[in-house]
Amino acid sequence: MYKILCKDGSAKRGRLETVHGTIETPVFMNVATVGAMKGAVSTEDLQHLKTQVVLSNTYHLHVRPGDEIVKKMGGLHKFMTWDKPILTDSGGFQVFSLAGLRKIKEEGVYFNSHIDGRKIFMGPEQSMQIQSNIASTIAMAFDECPPHPATRQYMQNSVDRTTRWLERCKKEMDRLNSLDTTINKSQLLFGINQGGTFEDIRVEHAKRISELNLDGYALGGLAVGESHAEMYDIIEKTVPYLPEDKPTYLMGVGTPANILEAVERGVDFFDCVYPARNGRHGHAYTNHGKMNLMNKKYELDDRPLDETCDCPTCRKYSRAYIRHLLKAKEMLGLRLMVTHNLYFYNSMMEEIRDAIEKGCFKEYKKKKLEQLEEEAK
Ligand code: GUN
Ligand code: ZN
Repeated sequence: MYKILCKDGSAKRGRLETVHGTIETPVFMNVATVGAMKGAVSTEDLQHLKTQVVLSNTYHLHVRPGDEIVKKMGGLHKFMTWDKPILTDSGGFQVFSLAGLRKIKEEGVYFNSHIDGRKIFMGPEQSMQIQSNIASTIAMAFDECPPHPATRQYMQNSVDRTTRWLERCKKEMDRLNSLDTTINKSQLLFGINQGGTFEDIRVEHAKRISELNLDGYALGGLAVGESHAEMYDIIEKTVPYLPEDKPTYLMGVGTPANILEAVERGVDFFDCVYPARNGRHGHAYTNHGKMNLMNKKYELDDRPLDETCDCPTCRKYSRAYIRHLLKAKEMLGLRLMVTHNLYFYNSMMEEIRDAIEKGCFKEYKKKKLEQLEEEAK
């Protein structure tokens, strides 16, 4: 299913075949938490943005509109009209970051909905059932994303429970995939490695979950407050203990520079809200540094956001016009910004794949990092 086409150092150029089509890796997944991109970007728009995979969320879709409704509508692909791969995060992380009062027990997590406060229970089985109803291409295991910093004792207990939860996830996923009523009976399951910045806990956990023969493996609990240097170090020390012949996914990361550093250490999958969030705040990524469109110097600038970009925004619209839309709080301003930023990320991934194939990833990375640090004119 997943094949390494070639390597350049530890950087992998791979391909994952799924029932919803092929994913060329390294890949950046575009975030569609509730089954919609932020900034009023449609799935039709995504066809022109080199988007390969979108990422939605178990917790959000369970709370609203309800995964039973998504199932009755034929699954999330049909519901949101997106026929390429969808990965769903398990809800674990969101329960910890969004929900109000929560209680973690061996069986799962009790918490209150962030929408209406109603009491909800989610454990490994529930998360798998919800993701099976949503019928995503790839389901993520139900894990605890431990806080940073955490004591060693807390971390070890949490990771041990996450391992037991993973075993329950796998068992439940196998059962669901064998039912005739299941929409996607080939749903893939990725496990999640945890352990914070405790290198030995990370490595032991990586070895342990590697035995479960899952379809892919993620690094969770990173970019939660530790330094970039610590994060790169953990990636470098942990990835060698995850199966090389399975895709590796660094959850919730990150800046273009973070992605380049992680690709160099063997990571294949990424997701992050930055391109959409920064776009909505008037920040554009360009090949000559990051640009703040709110800056007065763009008031009469008739150039596109990035003169080297051929995204739908840069083909037509000027900096001055986009700046005006953002100032006037027009929805179109957000849409044009998010479109460009997603295209920037997706194009960078294409360049990364190309560089690995050509065996010049190191040179490419150095040049790209220099460009990213330029002062936008
Ligand atoms: N997204 C970012 N980090 C994490 C994590 O540790 N676990 C899950 N499930 N999702 C994440
Ligand atoms: Zn552009």
